[in-house]
Amino acid sequence: MVDTDGARIIQLGAEDAAAGLLLSTEAHWNQTGADWLVFLREGTVLGIRDGRVLVATAALLPYPGNNAWISMVLVTASHRRRGLATQLVDACLEVARKRGLTSWLDATPAGAAVYGPLGFTPTLQLRRLKLVTSTPAATPAPSSAPVEALCARDRRATGLDRTVLLTAFAERPGSRIVSEGGAIALVRDGRTARHVGPLFADDSAGALTMINTIVRSENGPLLIDAVASQGAFLEGLTASGWTIERPFQRMRFGPASATGGELPFAVAGPEFG
Ligand SMILES: CC(C)(COP(=O)(O)OP(=O)(O)OC[C@H]1O[C@@H](n2cnc3c(N)ncnc32)[C@H](O)[C@@H]1OP(=O)(O)O)[C@@H](O)C(=O)NCCC(=O)NCCS
Repeated sequence: MVDTDGARIIQLGAEDAAAGLLLSTEAHWNQTGADWLVFLREGTVLGIRDGRVLVATAALLPYPGNNAWISMVLVTASHRRRGLATQLVDACLEVARKRGLTSWLDATPAGAAVYGPLGFTPTLQLRRLKLVTSTPAATPAPSSAPVEALCARDRRATGLDRTVLLTAFAERPGSRIVSEGGAIALVRDGRTARHVGPLFADDSAGALTMINTIVRSENGPLLIDAVASQGAFLEGLTASGWTIERPFQRMRFGPASATGGELPFAVAGPEFG
């Protein structure tokens, strides 16, 4: 049994990717083994084992410019409500504090209940939407924009330099960067559905045109994490068959350090911001 008062927190390594994937799959999340390796190689992933079994995780992924994303906060169903998530997120915050990083995260409703008491404050809201297409498409079109263009737009919009992350995404088999008019988006593989995001556009009409282009060239289900305040975009998505699966609440711990100049239409994913 895990000792709930001060369970032993360990730092995980690349060899724990499969055990991490079991936890995110149990929660029906879309992450792949490649996603876990981003956190395990580029970030700090903390975990708690019960015997030899990994039962809880939390990850801190630093971004240049004194920011970090906290994610992969997962506790297996049999070990919930014993304070494990609280302990792990607290330990991530300690890592961030020592490095002088402002921590951000995109919380599920259950997660927000854990993070609020720790001192996180809400910022913007997201909506996860899903599209199950019935029309078969040709094989996905190749990338139509270089990764440098996506990184530059991402930096301008979010204030974060995520060149390393976005380049790693773009290099994965099946990834493509689509650009049309003033819009640009990344599409990548997920465990259960392809993920669209981040997506930037000059206006909601441009963002919806981009989505329609992507949908026409994709097979299988698609997921997108849209910024909730992009109302016309969200309405356009639901009018064309996308369904809202769940909300996410973006939260911040520490001073506002990233000053974005443009609101994205969709983010890279709740685990990456
Ligand atoms: C959310 C999750 C990580 C919480 O893990 P946990 O170890 O059970 O959380 P804690 O025991 O530290 O909870 C601390 C407090 O948060 C609140 N809380 C935790 N889970 C909650 C839930 N499902 N609903 C409402 N409040 C909740 C409670 O106030 C709890 O204190 P209490 O048990 O004394 O009432 C876990 O339920 C989980 O893995 N869920 C699926 C994945 C997920 O949503 N992860 C969060 C991503 S942002």
